[in-house]
Amino acid sequence: MIGFYLLGRLSDLARWEVAALAQRRGEAYRTVSERFVAVSSDDFRFYSRLAYTKVYGRLWFSTKKLSEVGRLARESGLQEYVLRNQPFAVRSNVSTALNRRVGWYLDGKVDLKAPKTTVFVVRAAGRYHFLAPACEISAKSFSCRDVKNRPFPHPTSLNAREARLLVNLSGVLPRETFLDPFCGTGGILIEAAVVGADVYGIDAVEDMVLGALANLQYYGLAGTVMKGDARKIPLKGVDAVATDVPYGRSSKVITRDLRSLYLDSFESVYSSLKRGRRFVVVADRDVSPLLERAGFRVDHVGSWYVHGGLTRRVHVCRK
Ligand SMILES: C[S@@+](CC[C@H](N)C(=O)[O-])C[C@H]1O[C@@H](n2cnc3c(N)ncnc32)[C@H](O)[C@@H]1O
Repeated sequence: MIGFYLLGRLSDLARWEVAALAQRRGEAYRTVSERFVAVSSDDFRFYSRLAYTKVYGRLWFSTKKLSEVGRLARESGLQEYVLRNQPFAVRSNVSTALNRRVGWYLDGKVDLKAPKTTVFVVRAAGRYHFLAPACEISAKSFSCRDVKNRPFPHPTSLNAREARLLVNLSGVLPRETFLDPFCGTGGILIEAAVVGADVYGIDAVEDMVLGALANLQYYGLAGTVMKGDARKIPLKGVDAVATDVPYGRSSKVITRDLRSLYLDSFESVYSSLKRGRRFVVVADRDVSPLLERAGFRVDHVGSWYVHGGLTRRVHVCRK
């Protein structure tokens, strides 16, 4: 069992992110609280691709009472793990006093500066949950691919961590085909390629196509990007789709009628996607009725506040 302590921002989407990946792998998923979820898996390496999780690790045990920690650590094997991997550190979402107390219950050498392993205690739903080794997902691991660090930056593009969230919500697995039909300069394509998908992008503007190709190449990633129209996708049997549609504000739209651009492109995505697979759409408004009209089941619409004039909606759909 792996426990995931989620970022506070967009925690509903962070839960969907873990659930979408677990579901694709056939692993049981459980919501414990708003910011803590668990999956029956021991594949830690796979989950290092998450974007909106703060810390995750093997879930050894959960308890209501701290006084039981010594016994439960012995019975679950956490005590032995700590002794094999000392010096260790304890961190938590509670307080340094709790960290010290747990460090005391877990017999072993503590080193907060250079620990060999870290135990992370999450207080959620009235219990303490013990994770180890605690793997942290840091902002730094994404920042090298943020818009400002790409050779072809563009103001409409998403930063890497945000783009990765969308890719993970689509549930795409390594070697599967992934499409962004309004790809712009390729922010979402880059993250899909980093997790090992076979990526395809479409954009109506030639400069964007060249920019997306230059950006992919800069990070040593392969992908197919074509100039075209999202309303006429020339692909079939696609495994997953995620996109940030044009809002008609700063990115170019080749029609004045946004509503029909959305509906026609959603219908085109529907016919290019495999049955049962996911389509993730970001827009500046709720476009669920149009997605449903195109044939999709809308499982969730998340709100993503950007600034006073823009709250994005993230639609998680399934064919
Ligand atoms: C919000 S931007 C996408 C930003 C993108 N996620 C990125 O990382 O750069 C929308 C893109 O849709 C493109 N576009 C507009 N109408 C289109 C159409 N009918 N077919 C394909 N692309 C279109 C625009 O040129 C623009 O690059």
